[in-house]
Amino acid sequence: MNTEILINLVYVVAAVLFILGLKLLGSPATARKGNLVSSAGMFIAVVVTLLDQNIIEFQYIIVGIVIGTLIGAVVARKVEMTSMPEMVALFNGFGGLASLFVGWAALSIALVTATVINPVSAFTLITIFLSILIGGLTFTGSLLAYGKLSERISGRPFVYSGQRIVNSAILIAVVVCAGLFIQDPSDANWLYLAVALSLVLGVMFVLPIGGADMPVVISLLNSFSGIAAAAAGFAIGNILLIVAGSLVGASGIILTNIMCKAMNRSLSNVLFSGFGAVKVSSAAEIEQGEVKPMSAEDAYYVLEAATSVVVIPGYGMAVAQAQHVVKELQELLEENGAEVVYAIHPVAGRMPGHMNVLLAEADVPYDLLLEMDQINPRMETFDVAIIIGANDVVNPAAREIESSPIYGMPVINADQARTVFVLKRSMASGFAGIDNPLFFKDNTRMLFGDAKETLSNLVKSFD
Ligand code: TAP
Repeated sequence: MNTEILINLVYVVAAVLFILGLKLLGSPATARKGNLVSSAGMFIAVVVTLLDQNIIEFQYIIVGIVIGTLIGAVVARKVEMTSMPEMVALFNGFGGLASLFVGWAALSIALVTATVINPVSAFTLITIFLSILIGGLTFTGSLLAYGKLSERISGRPFVYSGQRIVNSAILIAVVVCAGLFIQDPSDANWLYLAVALSLVLGVMFVLPIGGADMPVVISLLNSFSGIAAAAAGFAIGNILLIVAGSLVGASGIILTNIMCKAMNRSLSNVLFSGFGAVKVSSAAEIEQGEVKPMSAEDAYYVLEAATSVVVIPGYGMAVAQAQHVVKELQELLEENGAEVVYAIHPVAGRMPGHMNVLLAEADVPYDLLLEMDQINPRMETFDVAIIIGANDVVNPAAREIESSPIYGMPVINADQARTVFVLKRSMASGFAGIDNPLFFKDNTRMLFGDAKETLSNLVKSFD
């Protein structure tokens, strides 16, 4: 069998492993296996590619692998679960930078090897430029998203009028510079300008988006990094890079779409509305009943008598790091004869699967985690709903107040349980910046304080 056929066969095996890995990532129970399967695919793909092409001296490649592995292993070990989106943002960013470099290198080689009889084809030049430009904007956009999400820089959306016009002008300028360079490749200044402008575009694209929308942006940039890689694959004629890039591009856009749907917002609303720039209050339309605070000690008596309890976690559970003590409470309630389940909203917290990851860390069995669509029809049957640091995802204004910014967003109907306990520190609003009529309902009791502390007090009451 000739080498090329063998390499392509290995590429097909790697592609199958990627797809299988993605499938396994679809469920928490098989996600680890999915990661391993995909990594194995990438490993054999890298090895075969390196064996095939004598790109540079092997000692440089080995030095690169050792340095990269060390940095990757240390960072992955150190990163907190809650900081995963930031890490993904950095991965995307460097993926984009890699595509930029691959495209640039492919361009240099193509220009050196081109002859008058055999010039570089327009298709190759376009794919090269796409990998450079999308890679460049993914790099700076991802770094900015990382900064906003990690709160190293302000997460506030930076909005100004004419933003879209400015961004469109930069995009057009990039295309014009690329065109001018293609026409006359001897003048590299057009290329440098195109690269610089694409880096600026990444910053301008992410600046107007608020910190709490960063998960959506990161998912979109993930998709961009895939598209840049696929373009780089076309540029250097590597089939597997095209396949892997397309998979990343497609899965990133699907996840972006899922998140937007779960918030009942369009992608353009997320990208251009500057959501979170102004605090919106619908207080005037909320029947401001009486807020009824309750102590953990009193809440214990209600829980002790409950036969069914639904726990609804949100961003505050992540802030309080209350997942372990939630598990303790779950076990005590179960020992007391109650059924306990968890209701997970698709955008609870600040990243996809945020609550699932935290609860998995505390060894909460997967089969106790129910999705919003599974829990809502039976919400009325629960004696108690315990809301732990969730706010927007349980806000009935999404159903009841037409003028509310979150009107139409699917929410967990916690207010329909017999008794609702809300564990939070104050009456402050959630990410969407709007008041929550749930806090004023007759069947709601507010357990003010840090969620971990309140839950610890509840657990103590059971002893
Ligand atoms: P939020 O609406 O942001 O509410 C979180 C609540 O937690 C706050 O009201 C806060 O109230 C409370 N809290 C904070 N620290 C706490 C602590 N130590 N102890 C107890 N409570 C604490 O959270 P949510 O209900 O999970 O909704 C998520 C929001 O993020 C939605 O608006 C969603 O659209 C948005 N979003 C999510 C995603 C993804 S993928 N998850 C992506 C983009 C946007 P106090 O300050 O009073 O304690």
